[in-house]
Amino acid sequence: MMRSVILAAARSSKIERLVGTAPVSRSLVRRYVAGETTAEAVATTRALAADGLLVTLDYLGEDTVVVEQADATRDEYLSLLAALKGEGLSKAAEVSVKLSALGQRLDAELAYDRAREICTAAADAGTTVTVDMEDHTVTDSTLEIVQRLREEFTLTGAVLQAYLRRTEDDCKAHAVADSRIRLCKGAYKEPESVAYQRSLDVDRSYVRCINALMAGDGYPMLATHDPRLIEIGIDRARWYDRDKDSFEFQMLYGIRSSEQLRLAAEGYRMRVYVPYGDQWYGYLMRRMAERPANLAVFLRSLWTK
Ligand code: FDA
Repeated sequence: MMRSVILAAARSSKIERLVGTAPVSRSLVRRYVAGETTAEAVATTRALAADGLLVTLDYLGEDTVVVEQADATRDEYLSLLAALKGEGLSKAAEVSVKLSALGQRLDAELAYDRAREICTAAADAGTTVTVDMEDHTVTDSTLEIVQRLREEFTLTGAVLQAYLRRTEDDCKAHAVADSRIRLCKGAYKEPESVAYQRSLDVDRSYVRCINALMAGDGYPMLATHDPRLIEIGIDRARWYDRDKDSFEFQMLYGIRSSEQLRLAAEGYRMRVYVPYGDQWYGYLMRRMAERPANLAVFLRSLWTK
């Protein structure tokens, strides 16, 4: 119930304006967001890489219906990739991109064109792109665009969400050579017709999806903070005789940081998803929804500096 209310608020521009003008505590935003500028994103990447962690950088923004904003998002990714290359960080860091920030809801073809430019810059820098997954109304369109990108940029990654009933089949279909699939639970409010509603059912689906990905020939990227699912991932990798460099774990910046370091120290590939930019509202609200205990902190922060 609480999760649904917060996720509905995440999509409300009225509440976004309210929160945007409130003195939301900087430290709360900074817990989950690396900063507003390219320089801050690069500095965070450098620090995480020094700790033996891999990074995927997300320039925050979504649901753009303004062409100029979609172009500006593409331009920021191009600058970021040039900076990563210049700083010698493109082995440690890739980028994550939301197609809705590139104008998918306006014109999917133009979003593809902008994503293609980002993939070209990533290839030039010697790194990769993973395309984030948004709500179920864009799942097919997003997977089609990833498929087209992969024809030119084989290692372009896709995200599959275990809460969707279709995802076990999608995992089986995508567990092929060179595919990079990030498996997450799913962060949007979805109807029962397409998504499991009980967390136990989502977790069971996640385990079936781990099995499908680990059994296949692709490169699974297990994006979760859930200790049980991480243990199951390690177990299944052993069962399918996979080397530690044939899959990776991923977690969000600011969540379970000591666990991130522990897994890296044990020789697992551990990638941190690092968001930056000033469009943090939707991202922050989804993090609040994942852990309603955070909500009290958030509400208090609306009234304090
Ligand atoms: P779960 O929510 O059950 O959390 C397990 C434990 O982790 C909690 O008990 C708590 O200890 C800790 N934790 C989790 N969230 C926390 C929070 N916000 N604050 C503090 N502690 C927290 N989703 C999507 O729909 N599309 C996408 O493209 C992506 N991309 C993505 C990339 C990466 C790298 C990650 C890690 C996640 C995503 N997600 C996503 C988000 C994902 O779908 C999911 O909402 C979150 O990862 C939370 O689910 P967990 O698997 O961590 O389990």
